[in-house]
Amino acid sequence: MSVVLTARELTRHYEVPTGLFKPHALVRALNGVSFQLEAGKTLAVVGESGCGKSTLARALTLIEQPTSGSLQIGGREVAGANKAERKAMRRDVQMVFQSPYASLNPRQKVGDQLAEPLLINTDLSREQRREKVQAMMHQVGLRPEHYQRYPHMFSGGQRQRIALARAMMLQPKVLVADEPTSALDVSIQAQVLNLFMDLQQQYRTAYVFISHNLAVVRHVADDVLVMYLGRPAEMGPKEDLYANPLHPYTQALLSATPTIKPDPAKPRIKIAGELPNPLNPPPGCAFHKRCPYATDRCATEVPAFRPVGTRQVACHYAERFVAA
Ligand SMILES: Nc1ncnc2c1ncn2[C@@H]1O[C@H](COP(=O)(O)OP(=O)(O)OP(=O)(O)O)[C@@H](O)[C@H]1O
Ligand SMILES: [Mg+2]
Repeated sequence: MSVVLTARELTRHYEVPTGLFKPHALVRALNGVSFQLEAGKTLAVVGESGCGKSTLARALTLIEQPTSGSLQIGGREVAGANKAERKAMRRDVQMVFQSPYASLNPRQKVGDQLAEPLLINTDLSREQRREKVQAMMHQVGLRPEHYQRYPHMFSGGQRQRIALARAMMLQPKVLVADEPTSALDVSIQAQVLNLFMDLQQQYRTAYVFISHNLAVVRHVADDVLVMYLGRPAEMGPKEDLYANPLHPYTQALLSATPTIKPDPAKPRIKIAGELPNPLNPPPGCAFHKRCPYATDRCATEVPAFRPVGTRQVACHYAERFVAA
């Protein structure tokens, strides 16, 4: 087992203005998320809009510093690293965004963009760089003549292939993909997902794959982390989590995913009500106001994220849902 990334109680708070002469309010965008990631494995992160997925992505890719908690990349602590070490860590964790335009320069030829990480980080000659770029382009399904083209000359799916190729050029230890296929046609999604899987097989890259779509996640994940309002709700092996979700929120998300075959024996759970205001989250379990099983205890006591069977669950009553 080779752990490439360890997050411990990662937390990121944002101060937001609430009005003139009023004190700032605090958004707890990410509130104590811990996990370990092994080479070649995929952790999928799911949850509704605003639950902190992109905030987690920015912390993992060192785009933003966490407010508290720790992050280890390749066995080394990020917080204690010097400038050169940080640079190496940045190289080790690459990111693919929902919109490839966020990672591609519209004014630079695709081939040059793919060569750029090699130019900055390696001593390869021009010819060697070109060879590597051509090899990677071939691998992601682009043709040699695409080298000279600009990003706008490609379809959305092709652009996402280019963004993925660019992220993989230096063979990072970890790739964080934030909704990488959400903007694509369903027919193209599967192809791009397969490409993610092929590259992972070849390079043994660890993935953090962010998506709100549980059907997509089922295709790519080894482990799944379900988040709710910045906190982990449930985490564990994909098969177990899909077969027997323990957190009522996971149950609700799964029963709201139409492409996953519903079990006629199980009632469909609807998520009642709105996502709470993150500036003013409810006390106790953040999900209690929408939970069909909530008790008085849920309204006052924050459930610990604790081991239950093969998983970790933040629900006082998780045992109740363990399938016999
Ligand atoms: N820079 C910021 N300043 C203030 N609040 C922020 C900032 N970035 C994110 N937030 C808040 O933090 C919370 C989490 O946001 P985040 O973008 O991580 O959610 P998400 O799960 O990625 O959502 P989506 O599915 O819509 O992409 C939200 O309430 C958001 O408004
Ligand atoms: Mg997001």
